Amino acid sequence: MSRTPITRGAVPAHPGLQIDLSDPELFATGDPIAAFARLRREAPVYWNDGVQDQFWALTRYEDVVYVSKHPAEFCSGQGTIIGIGPEGSMLSMDDPRHKKLRALVEKGFTARMVRDLEPHTREVTGLVFDEIGDADEIDFVDKISAEIPLRVIVEMLGAPREDARYLKDLGDVMVGHDDDSYNPTSANADAAPAQAQMDMFEYFKSLAEDRMKHPRDDLVSVLLNADLDGEKFEELDFLIFCMLLVIAGNETTRNLMTGGMLLLFENPDEFGRIKDDPALLPTCVEEMLRMVSSVMHFERVATRDTEIHGQAIAEGERVCMWYGAANRDPDVFIDPDRFDAGRKPNPHLAFGGGGPHFCLGASLARQEIRALFDELIRRYPGVEQTGPHERLRSNFIRGVKTLPVKLR
Ligand code: HEM
Repeated sequence: MSRTPITRGAVPAHPGLQIDLSDPELFATGDPIAAFARLRREAPVYWNDGVQDQFWALTRYEDVVYVSKHPAEFCSGQGTIIGIGPEGSMLSMDDPRHKKLRALVEKGFTARMVRDLEPHTREVTGLVFDEIGDADEIDFVDKISAEIPLRVIVEMLGAPREDARYLKDLGDVMVGHDDDSYNPTSANADAAPAQAQMDMFEYFKSLAEDRMKHPRDDLVSVLLNADLDGEKFEELDFLIFCMLLVIAGNETTRNLMTGGMLLLFENPDEFGRIKDDPALLPTCVEEMLRMVSSVMHFERVATRDTEIHGQAIAEGERVCMWYGAANRDPDVFIDPDRFDAGRKPNPHLAFGGGGPHFCLGASLARQEIRALFDELIRRYPGVEQTGPHERLRSNFIRGVKTLPVKLR
């Protein structure tokens, strides 16, 4: 659902700043890191009147945390993703509805359940590597980073393993709607993503029908049976949540893994450090999260006239939090553009600025990323990049479509 653009009255001029963070092309072929740095320095609360949306772009750490933690002042219910209206998931809900739904889904996502999944995550990771067999030149995205999070989430939901690719392709069309290689009808057209969403709903509807009759030890069965003060999931909420998990549990982590691999190639000394001392992996993963920030933004809408750092924000205006920019804020991170596998402390905002929408899958994502690099270092310490990588055309996911590597 697209939105009607808002018109603004007086806006502060930022002469010479021609940056448009809503333009997906910036992230495919441009230099968003340089754009973030310039905005943070020259216009940290910047009126972005762009090709896909109009919003106040926030690039400072402190401002992203403030907005995340003040949901009554900056709400989610009017949509949280550039150019898309409220998409119906918990991401674009406010309390009390958000609180209720979140409490319900947390029943299927307790810390213990995620911790118990660890051996399974490691097993899936091992299998993905086993299946590569003797092939030495592969696409890291297709064969490794797209496979691990996808299989983990699909199996966790209880969908058959052989359906994983089908669900991945549907998710790719939705997330890659601005990219011709994923949205075949033409970039930014609505038809293919809308069809993909219908197909995904149909899929989970029939899986739910089966689990109602034959419950199993899987997330779909747990969610169908979960109740909160006697209330159960409504069908549409259930379907949207399954779709959110397939997308959030897959595209985000896949691109974090690929971006992390690229960082290791670009920083061979740091790669050497973790090979020599794998105990550094946990801090290395946090550093990947900080520097890649695979989910690039979420928006909020001001519920009343307010201000951020002296800049007036009118009720109804959108503010957009750029996590990757906040994660390189020199006021918080020393030498922020340096990849330091042992960085401590590292209070990055890759999973959000700490409010009620903080990422539900943070522990699972960390578990999967660690398992991948642990296995990679043990099996192929000499892995190297053999050709250029290709970036996703998206202003939402910091994505990489292909990354050719040689496994040694
Ligand atoms: C590296 C991987 C990931 C990144 C960078 C990431 C990032 C984020 C961010 C930035 C938010 C919004 C936070 C906010 O608004 O304050 C979010 C929310 C969410 N994430 Fe993740 N995520 C990742 C992996 C996952 C995984 C693996 C899952 C599930 C299996 C997941 C499920 C969710 C859900 C359900 C929400 C919505 C929570 C709510 O609205 O209450 N994410 N994530």
